[in-house]
Amino acid sequence: MAYIKFQDTDNEITDQKEVAQFLTAQEVIYEQWDMTNLPQELQEKYDLTDDEKETILAAFGAEIKDISERRGYKAADIISLSDSNPKLDEMLKNFERKHIHTDDEVRFIVSGHSVFIIQSKDEKFFEVHLEAGDLISVPENTTHYFTLDEDRKTVAIRLFITTEGWVPVYADENVKV
Ligand SMILES: [Fe+2]
Repeated sequence: MAYIKFQDTDNEITDQKEVAQFLTAQEVIYEQWDMTNLPQELQEKYDLTDDEKETILAAFGAEIKDISERRGYKAADIISLSDSNPKLDEMLKNFERKHIHTDDEVRFIVSGHSVFIIQSKDEKFFEVHLEAGDLISVPENTTHYFTLDEDRKTVAIRLFITTEGWVPVYADENVKV
């Protein structure tokens, strides 16, 4: 279950109905998928073989098919981040740069935690703290960045419409879209 934290006030929304209402008002898609689909040996597993990644995608195959038909996603893959990657800090520095994409950015959290920090319609930034079972879609052309939570690890399914639409356009590079 996700919760929201506002960066300017430190206020939080933890009530699930209110979280869902707030995100809907921000045009952020938020869903929860059934985690019992995931084989037990793959829960909280961060060093994944290609076969294990395929098993995870297959475990959520029905949900992926359903949302892809609704939203037009054409491809899915798995990303795993943890301290077993020696470049984690370097990667996080890049993920923490504000950017947009021309398509929406979708993540389903399989293990650990992820945090998306999104610019709200009144220009303030709110953090969406996600855990296993949570799906988020950050709307296209909406400034945001990504980081890990205190556990510094996550496995997530990414869904794409086009690979071009997923390329980050960084606010600090002054690139026009
Ligand atoms: Fe992004």
